Amino acid sequence: MKTSKRLSLSADPKTRRSCLCTLLPTASLVCVIFFMGSMFVATDYKERSTKKGMADTMLITETVTCENHCRPEGSEALPKGIVSRTSDLKMQPLWGSPKERKQKHSVNLLAMAVGIRQKENVSRIVKKFPSNDFIVMLFHYDGMVNEWNDQEWSHHAIHVSAISQTKWWFAKRFLHPDIVAEYDYIFLWDEDLGVEHFNPGRYLSIVKEEGLEISQPALDVAKSEVHHQITARARRSKVHRRTYKVGGGRRCDVNSTSPPCTGWIEMMAPVFSRASWRCTWYMIQNDLIHAWGLDFQLGYCAQGDRTKNVGVVDAEYIVHQGLPTLGGLEENNISDDTPGQASVNKHLPDIEVQAPSQSHANNDRYAVRKRSFVELEMFKNRWKKSVRDDKCWSDPFQQPAKQ
Ligand SMILES: *[C@@H]1O[C@H](CO)[C@@H](O)[C@H](O)[C@H]1NC(C)=O
Ligand SMILES: *[C@@H]1O[C@H](CO)[C@@H](O)[C@H](O)[C@H]1NC(C)=O
Ligand SMILES: *[C@@H]1O[C@H](CO)[C@@H](O)[C@H](O)[C@H]1NC(C)=O
Repeated sequence: MKTSKRLSLSADPKTRRSCLCTLLPTASLVCVIFFMGSMFVATDYKERSTKKGMADTMLITETVTCENHCRPEGSEALPKGIVSRTSDLKMQPLWGSPKERKQKHSVNLLAMAVGIRQKENVSRIVKKFPSNDFIVMLFHYDGMVNEWNDQEWSHHAIHVSAISQTKWWFAKRFLHPDIVAEYDYIFLWDEDLGVEHFNPGRYLSIVKEEGLEISQPALDVAKSEVHHQITARARRSKVHRRTYKVGGGRRCDVNSTSPPCTGWIEMMAPVFSRASWRCTWYMIQNDLIHAWGLDFQLGYCAQGDRTKNVGVVDAEYIVHQGLPTLGGLEENNISDDTPGQASVNKHLPDIEVQAPSQSHANNDRYAVRKRSFVELEMFKNRWKKSVRDDKCWSDPFQQPAKQ
């Protein structure tokens, strides 16, 4: 089905190229489909051109072979070998022999939205991530960058500053999958996390062993603000993938197949595999900066069965302080039944800096919260509309009509 739809586009090779080369996630799949597309055009073309003789046919064959190279849109004017499709966040020295320069190791990325008021705690987090295994990228939502210079690790970190922007705003703009293609895992974390019982190396080895494409460390229930039961740490297990709940709004049992019972994590400390990030990045909307509702759809990016590939790691766990840098009072009010709320994004106006008065601060928080709910509705509606409009898409998680 997919193929036939794509082929129908093939009348305009430009369209075809841009659809196939830039939008589809994996290059190999792209090339296969592209190849099929080209074959189709070629056959069609040939039939029409038999009269024009051998020479033409040969020329066409040659063009067809060349088209199979599957070039990224816009790179057609360049010889293939010079096209550099991906990049990374590694800083390069200004001089040195290629051999010295070659030594690359960092294979994962820690990206956090931070404010200077959390300096100590952020520093504590960063220091837990060994610098030869992790690139560190800080998104400064309060415009304070130089203030971090006294931290030794700060010189090796990438700093991006944009005032009053959220973690998702930054991620959409600065973590394009082609830019972070090198990293096996991406930690997209909030700043108010305690990492005393968290070891990134051990965490990653568990995640790999368990095949978790999307994960989060469990929350220490004694010290954390826990919004969703599934994120609570289970003492005796290494990893858990579902939660059980009777009564209340939503029932979760062994037969549950959907979030928030299973296939779900919260958004304060997500860890993505390369493939799941590529998918997730596409799903983050440019304008919906609070990303509410995204958490419930993340399972679609889990590279298969979300009840298996999404999970919470108990053996390496964190504390979620739930600091009121933004959400404050209202945040405490979130219940397990609040639909599709991502962790309240606290990264909005640094209140001390922008609004000294407490009531002003509360107004800001209230406004942010209100906007988050509006975004949630918008996101849900966009999802519904997309499902309706895309005749080629079928829902892999669709419940079979009542078992
Ligand atoms: C840093 O974390 C600790 C707990 O680990 C917390 O009690 C403290 O409030 C945090 N510091 C700041 C400045 O928020
Ligand atoms: C789960 O499904 C099985 C088989 O359909 C059923 O026997 C069992 O009672 C269900 N369990 C719960 C808790 O609903
Ligand atoms: C908390 O929730 C209750 C009902 O769920 C609501 O009436 C109340 O206004 C909320 N409080 C805040 C501070 O949002």
